[in-house]
Amino acid sequence: MDKQALEALLNDMSTEEKVMQLVQISGSEYEADAEITGIERGQVKDNVKRLAGSTLGIWGSKRLRKIQEQYISEHPHHIPLMFMLDVIHGHKTVLPCPLGQGATFDPDAVRKGAELQAREAAADGVHATFSPMADLCRDARWGRIMESTGEDKLLNSRMSKAMVEGYQGDDLKDPTHVAACVKHFAAYGAAEGGRDYNNTELSEHTLREYYLRAYGEAIKKNPVMVMSSFNSINGIPATGNQFLMKKILREEFGFQGVLISDWGAVGEMINHGFAEDQKDAALKGMMAGVDIDMCSGCYSAYLEELVNEGAVSMEMLDEAVLRVLNMKNDLGLFEDPYRGLTMESGPVITKESRQLAREAVTASLVLLENKENTLPLRKEKLAFVGPYADTKRLQSSWAFSGEDENTVTVWEAASEVCEPELIKLAVGCTMLDQDAMTAREICHVDHWQEKNDELLAEAIHAAKWADTVIICLGEDIAQSGEATSKASLKLPMVQLRLLNEMKKTGKKIVTLIFTGRPLELKEVRELSDALMVCWLPGTEGGHGVVDVLMGKASPSGRLSVSFPYTVGQEPLHYDMYPTGRPKPENGPGPYTSRYLDCENGALYPFGYGLSYTTFEYTDAKLSAQTMSASDTITASVTVRNTGDRKGSATVQLYVRDVTGSRVRPIRELADFKKISLEPGAEEKVSFTISEEMLRFWTAEEKWASEEGKFRVWICDNSCDGIPLEFQLKNR
Ligand code: GLC
Repeated sequence: MDKQALEALLNDMSTEEKVMQLVQISGSEYEADAEITGIERGQVKDNVKRLAGSTLGIWGSKRLRKIQEQYISEHPHHIPLMFMLDVIHGHKTVLPCPLGQGATFDPDAVRKGAELQAREAAADGVHATFSPMADLCRDARWGRIMESTGEDKLLNSRMSKAMVEGYQGDDLKDPTHVAACVKHFAAYGAAEGGRDYNNTELSEHTLREYYLRAYGEAIKKNPVMVMSSFNSINGIPATGNQFLMKKILREEFGFQGVLISDWGAVGEMINHGFAEDQKDAALKGMMAGVDIDMCSGCYSAYLEELVNEGAVSMEMLDEAVLRVLNMKNDLGLFEDPYRGLTMESGPVITKESRQLAREAVTASLVLLENKENTLPLRKEKLAFVGPYADTKRLQSSWAFSGEDENTVTVWEAASEVCEPELIKLAVGCTMLDQDAMTAREICHVDHWQEKNDELLAEAIHAAKWADTVIICLGEDIAQSGEATSKASLKLPMVQLRLLNEMKKTGKKIVTLIFTGRPLELKEVRELSDALMVCWLPGTEGGHGVVDVLMGKASPSGRLSVSFPYTVGQEPLHYDMYPTGRPKPENGPGPYTSRYLDCENGALYPFGYGLSYTTFEYTDAKLSAQTMSASDTITASVTVRNTGDRKGSATVQLYVRDVTGSRVRPIRELADFKKISLEPGAEEKVSFTISEEMLRFWTAEEKWASEEGKFRVWICDNSCDGIPLEFQLKNR
């Protein structure tokens, strides 16, 4: 439909019709088995169901076609209904959770994964996904860190851009792509205490310098939507925050698409104590420029009244409605409301989609320890133990459209490649401690103690038989995601007991950690000969993990988030400030910024990961020692594979602005490249340092670089490398 026709349609619509285009209702209004991802407020009125512009949480080509047919026939202007869904890291073929995808340091692979997700979701009638989540996450207590790509603003920027590109492609009318929605705007990951939905207190400097960066970068890729976040920022809820939504999002970022609230967030401004009642909440949402009210009921109940009273101008209403109509038009829904819904059966998992997922898993795994080259495994007797050894629950809590039965377990994958007489399975313990909150919600176990004693005995028997024990531990998938904040990062006691008992058998211990967040692994490190983080690996989790265990693939993941010694360090991030009393590198340093009982840094830092081979970084240099604003400097290093196996290195460029009008972090990631090298091969890796890369939010409240000394590291994690130096002279 062309612009004139759209405007003619808008002008012909009643006020009620216009208002309802700004209303999103739960899929449960149409299908009993809809996925409910928020707090439901009871059935909506008939006129709301008849006229609501969009719905969420349902999929399936046949049933959405039926819903659409009825909806369009009953709509006075036959405007198509829009179907939205959280396709966060997979629809049918579930990929590693986003925190694991961040660990690949491979935006191109992440883009391809988003393309696959879009293809599968679109074939099931989905028009838009609520992804990427571009929230910066520095606090492992916050369960939604699992949905992010981690703690670094550059990594998150590149991954979020890649996801928008993958979901949307070059042409939104292409029925194999879906609209993307950058969320949760903004700074949702900075929740005080790591407690979900909590307030965030951020200076404008910290907000702009760190928390807004990835949203801003992703918006450059023209996502169709942005979603407002639940949290308040410096006391003003994001969903009613005019500074955030009008000045930053619309004016500075130039976002012209649809701003949708998170589930119920418009109405929750009452709970925040920011809105008097639903009518006031509707007014504040509109004044902030929130176009679609997801499931709070405020717009459907009061927006027409607000317009009739003149509190909301018809012009403001028309602006919002036109953005929604443009969104539907850009997706081609007016021409084809069924948008290529040809597959009666919906998408199926294919050999190709499994292969893509399998490669995504191997690229996401982060090898943290490998004492005496325990891995890759040789032909030997293996005992697979632990609650993750043979479970299909390898998808996250946000992969609800993917069926567990499609998942390949670690044991199943091992059984495909190992001789049956050389492997044994013994689960060894329950996933959770008896008193764990999550246990009560998801997996109650009768006679818990007796059950675990029995499981332990079986595991000890299997371990005594084996040469090497593969122990698969971690958090249950229900312990990360929304509303899953935790004050402890420890593994369940029952799992640690199993690990200690396995260690007592004197066998080699390979520990695999399945988790949606950093956990405390200091004790695990001491008890393990090899240690690998597997995140929540999804449909091909077992295959990807066993490919690496057996050496068919080499681990190439690097930590997308710091793993602490203890939760007491949270929030923890590598790009910390030096303080006026920096702790000396080696030694306590009285009267310095330190803990009496813990290191300052991470047990395993951002960017860290091992390979099955070794790499040597030599000849690190800068092409010049001074740079003007119009110049660039080339930073280069030679990387050599000094081992006997092919492997991938993730070469990381870090920069430190030594002196600034504001304090600057001890280092920050400025670029990265993932390279693959055969044994003995070497490659010169170069990065271009530009003045633009050195800009920050200065004390003069603007983006600018400042003259002075800079340090540069070209290395393989955020704690490594020998610094090089150059001077920036702006004139
Ligand atoms: C949820 C989440 C958000 C999701 C939305 C729709 O509450 O906060 O990430 O996209 O509701 O399911």
